[in-house]
Amino acid sequence: MLTAEANTRLTETSKGTGMGELLRRYWWPIAATIDLEAEPVQPVRLLGEDLTLFRDLTGNIGLIGDRCAHRAISLAYGIPQENGLRCAYHGWTYNTEGKVVDMPFEPACLPLKVKSYPVQELGGLVWAWLGPQENIPLLPRHELLVRDDWVRKVTMRPLPCNWVQCNDNSMDPVHFEHLHGHFAQWWNTKKGIPKQVQTARHLKIDFDVFEYGIYKRRLIEGEPEDGDDWAVGHPFIFPHTLIQGVGESYGLQIRVPVDDTHTMHVRYSGHPTKAGEQRQEKIPVNHATLPYDAFGRVEWGEIPLQDEAAWVGQGPISDRTQEHLATSDKGVILYHNLLLENVAKVERGEDPMFTIRDEAENTPYIHVEREKRSGKLETVDLVTGQRSASGGAGY
Ligand code: FES
Ligand SMILES: [Fe+2]
Repeated sequence: MLTAEANTRLTETSKGTGMGELLRRYWWPIAATIDLEAEPVQPVRLLGEDLTLFRDLTGNIGLIGDRCAHRAISLAYGIPQENGLRCAYHGWTYNTEGKVVDMPFEPACLPLKVKSYPVQELGGLVWAWLGPQENIPLLPRHELLVRDDWVRKVTMRPLPCNWVQCNDNSMDPVHFEHLHGHFAQWWNTKKGIPKQVQTARHLKIDFDVFEYGIYKRRLIEGEPEDGDDWAVGHPFIFPHTLIQGVGESYGLQIRVPVDDTHTMHVRYSGHPTKAGEQRQEKIPVNHATLPYDAFGRVEWGEIPLQDEAAWVGQGPISDRTQEHLATSDKGVILYHNLLLENVAKVERGEDPMFTIRDEAENTPYIHVEREKRSGKLETVDLVTGQRSASGGAGY
């Protein structure tokens, strides 16, 4: 249970707040490269700031303020030019640094500028840096983002809830047995889906802080102590990314704080190209939305949607003055403490956890060890009798 003030400190995202400043020490994905072809100008909201993303006609990308310096129309209506973005209303034109470079009717171009932030493209995504403009760290090159030889895809789903409750869920192994097991079984029964979901019972859980974040580990009934679930565990990259999946096919789940009460869930998955699969020219993106039932509840279904529904089900900002953390929540408490320790680091002028400045560490890519097998979930098709094992590793 937290005080209302402590919950605000944990969840706020805006500039000048402790957590907002910590969040400004990370690169965030804000758009898919493929989308900029059809929509070269896009409104973006990140960490409570409204911005305009655009690609000019020479291919350069800019991320600038959302309002024209002339009479404040949204620059999301702008027209891409060779020299930047031309305001739809009277043609004032901004370069990628936000500087006005043309004022068509005026006798001279006044020295005006709107705010601008650095962006980079990597892995079919556009990444933004909203932090201090000097001494910017490297954009971390996660293995999946740079595997051009793999088949990859992106799903983005906007969620009406705070980013912390998304990550709390990744620090809570026990929910797997209930949300993805018992609840999923109830769902299948209710919907008449002839599938039986069986999850193993959790016997114990533990967590280890490592260089990039937190490993969560679980011992489940029927698995040995030297099994991967307990001996290796599952990595969460601080402060925002669950790595999900076992073996060579896996994904990143990046929880992007749009503002205090909204999160963009970016799921980035891939696998080594199989025989018969084409090498990808572009990485596709699926813009998904939450499905709701007639009572206003999120319709669950697949595992990621079950998690997203649980986060949204905690409300826009989970009211932690009302909760009672118990034995299963030790990872949640550890994560909150790590967040607050890193807020303090930033306040002392230090780099927070998972700041990459060494090119060698980032080259060719960052690889984080994961469990190679997981024994948590088995689905039995009641029609065919077919069993499929170990779905949902990492959740
Ligand atoms: S409002 Fe943008 S040029 Fe006038
Ligand atoms: Fe989950």
